[in-house]
Amino acid sequence: MNKMLDWVDSRFPLMSLWNEHLAKYYAPKNFNFWYYFGSLALLVLILQIVTGIFLTMNYKPDAELAFGSVEYIMRDVNYGWLIRYMHAVGASFFFVVVYLHMFRGLMYGSYRKPRELVWLIGMFIYVCLMAEAFLGYLLPWGQMSYWGAQVIISLFGAIPYVGEDLALWIRGDYVIADATLNRFFAFHVILVPLILLVLVVLHIIALHEVGSNNPDGVEIKKNKDPKTGIPVDGIPFHPYYSVKDIVGVTVFLMLFAGVIFYAPEFGGYFIEANNFFPADPLKTPEHIAPLWYFTPFYAILRAIPDKLMGVMAMGAAIVILFALPWLDRSPVKSIRYKGWIYKFALTLFVISFFGLCYLGMVGPTPVKTLLAQIFSFIYFAFFLLMPWYSTIDKTKPVPERVTD
Ligand code: HEM
Repeated sequence: MNKMLDWVDSRFPLMSLWNEHLAKYYAPKNFNFWYYFGSLALLVLILQIVTGIFLTMNYKPDAELAFGSVEYIMRDVNYGWLIRYMHAVGASFFFVVVYLHMFRGLMYGSYRKPRELVWLIGMFIYVCLMAEAFLGYLLPWGQMSYWGAQVIISLFGAIPYVGEDLALWIRGDYVIADATLNRFFAFHVILVPLILLVLVVLHIIALHEVGSNNPDGVEIKKNKDPKTGIPVDGIPFHPYYSVKDIVGVTVFLMLFAGVIFYAPEFGGYFIEANNFFPADPLKTPEHIAPLWYFTPFYAILRAIPDKLMGVMAMGAAIVILFALPWLDRSPVKSIRYKGWIYKFALTLFVISFFGLCYLGMVGPTPVKTLLAQIFSFIYFAFFLLMPWYSTIDKTKPVPERVTD
């Protein structure tokens, strides 16, 4: 075994990679619950790729055959139902995990110097993930697939001068059609997953270059043992956190299996009832809404009466997240040492995000539109006022070492 390792190692930096990223990657010893979600996101990414490969073996990217091929997978392919439910439920779980992962960043200031690039790459991952989910949703060629794509692509039509041509170019036809399905399949199955994989590798390389943040927001690299050069508050990722992450994976898989076996549609939140009807270009569904993970942005879009302004606000709601590392001027990173203003602002932000998520799912009424406008205002205020309130917020002194 050792001989084989030596043979490989003199031709490929296997041991040095293992050491750099696992056995000698020193992570802060005070990681908590919120640090499960990075490894869980990695797990879901792999699950989505593996189940996706099996789905592709029986799926047909053809407007005449797509819907039927999915029903064939569900009824006739051995364990096809399991593979398909794992993939569809996996998409929603991916967003649950990634939203919690991002929220951890908001709590502990993980986007602050020196981790700005980790955050930026994370944001590119998030945008790709949204594209991946949107593209995949067209593939079953159900009513919601068809009309959801119709609504979103028609938004490009709001762009002055080039909008209509752009929408036509994206669809490859005057309506969503076979050409659209074919290109969405190509993007969903190969292009976007490839970009995602590359971005995830970059995300982890960038993180390991600067080292992980922690719930105290203390930089452990500033306090190294003079003899060994190892951070005094660091512990090797492997075996300590590899074992901890197995606990997270176990609990996650239990929840995941629970949903797959007992509530795969999750009351219509994970798979919409209308998508069990084949796409019909002549019959617009009464109520068109995207799946829950897009509805906060969909609600912002609908909150603004003007179509172009709505599209711009929706785009801005995502773009503003990229600027976060430069909006926060607080002298401390972690919420543990921030003052009441940040805690209050973050609470309002979370309430607004959930509020928008709900409002994007239901049909608009005058009261609901007003509420969506208020929540959208809070959403943007959280970011735009941050340079101001983060400087006046009264912070607590940060300890020298991590607290445990
Ligand atoms: C496929 C999606 C993603 C995967 C597989 C992934 C993976 C990881 C992993 C394995 C870690 C280290 C473990 C941990 O700190 O939990 C991490 C850290 C981090 N990720 Fe992600 N990530 C993803 C998406 C994102 C997104 C969308 C963002 C934010 C926009 C983000 C921001 C961060 C930050 C700031 C850290 C450092 C956290 C800290 O040290 O406190 N990640 N990510």
